[in-house]
Amino acid sequence: MQKSNMTKGSAIKGFSKLSKEAKIQWLVNEYLNGDESYIDFLNSYLHPDPKVQKLHDEFIENTITNYYLPLGIAPNFLINGRIYALPMAIEESSVVAAAAKSANFWLERGGFTATVISTVKIGHVHFMYFGDGEKLARFIEKNKQKFYEDTHHITANMQARGGGILSIELKNKTDKLDGYYQLEARFETCDSMGANFINSCLEQMAKTLTILIAESDEFTESERQIQVVMRILSNYTPECIVRAEVTCPIDQLNADDEISPREFAEKFYRAVRIAEIEPYRATTHNKGIFNGIDAVVIATGNDFRAVEAAGHTYAARDGQYRSLTHCDISDGTFRFWIELPLALGVVGGLTSLHPMVRFSLALLGKPSATELMGIVAASGLAQNFAALRALVTSGIQKGHMKMHLLNILNQLEATEEEKNFFINYYKDKVVTYAETVRKFCELRGIPADTYAHIHKR
Ligand code: MEV
Repeated sequence: MQKSNMTKGSAIKGFSKLSKEAKIQWLVNEYLNGDESYIDFLNSYLHPDPKVQKLHDEFIENTITNYYLPLGIAPNFLINGRIYALPMAIEESSVVAAAAKSANFWLERGGFTATVISTVKIGHVHFMYFGDGEKLARFIEKNKQKFYEDTHHITANMQARGGGILSIELKNKTDKLDGYYQLEARFETCDSMGANFINSCLEQMAKTLTILIAESDEFTESERQIQVVMRILSNYTPECIVRAEVTCPIDQLNADDEISPREFAEKFYRAVRIAEIEPYRATTHNKGIFNGIDAVVIATGNDFRAVEAAGHTYAARDGQYRSLTHCDISDGTFRFWIELPLALGVVGGLTSLHPMVRFSLALLGKPSATELMGIVAASGLAQNFAALRALVTSGIQKGHMKMHLLNILNQLEATEEEKNFFINYYKDKVVTYAETVRKFCELRGIPADTYAHIHKR
């Protein structure tokens, strides 16, 4: 093992080849001042069953331990006539409580209706061709069948399940970048998210394209020199769309004691309109939606980065970033809905490997990918309903800080008795960090600035 000559930090060659113990020891020596207590600390997060731990070790490279997130449950989600208990993996204290509160509210008002609008995914072979574009278009059209034939060994199983490659088109992008073309393929990947399937197809299609053109006498010598730049799926899936909706007569919208259902509906509607037209608000509004979406996506072993990327692009599809949810309050009826792309899988990837993912899918009754799209969309809508409900009435801090109180008290290393005191203390007050610390110091009879260092760290 070679250590490089650096003045700050420490570099190493061959880190991945070290055993887990050696990796940790190296980190302790090089980054943690030789403090060996970190070894026990990291080991305390290992799974007691070595077989399960090995699974975790092998999910990624250079695993040294596990990183826990709480898995919470938001029960009472009535979606398309079935009641689900949603598994949510998330660190933010108020998210599960907010989802559960919305689920309860809508349980008594008909629940959520989810509709999958489309399930198509897209991928591209991005390539450069400096020649006659129309000739290339005619050539691709004439040889299309060859792409299907050459990918048959990859698509056969997917076809047996009802999926496969739906279309292959040449896209001329030379108005944006000189010489830039795409072979765009659309896919149906059934119950899998399909990233590996799509990328394997695209890699084969790029080979076929290169060989077909190289061997054709329809092209000049220079035209034959196409350059394949990339072969990759797009995480933007505007044809893999789900809609979830809640609706009820406005007079049943007694969401808060302080204001009338009509006033609540109008304020709520305006809050959504503001997020539809104002990107500053839309970003926070959609962030709240993804609080709910990501938590279920993570619990079910799906790729939350892909889901977020697609959602944000979709939110900006007309050139301005806007709300993913919408509201209508005409004809005495309140309608609130979300429409977004969700590329999810329930087979492949982590779904059958990660024990918690298997549990989450079992809890949801082993849903199909389309059923899961509806569940996840409902979770996002519920989260947004809870946030807006609080924002247009009592404000967000009341509920948020109530949930955050235990984090603050744990940071102060409060005893159970002290925690109970504060839960009572805040029954009729809004929790703030400053007030909690002040009262805590008073209770313990210690100087008020005892915890000033926590903020300075
Ligand atoms: C906090 O994580 C999310 C909210 O800010 C969302 C919103 O403002 O709509 C409460």
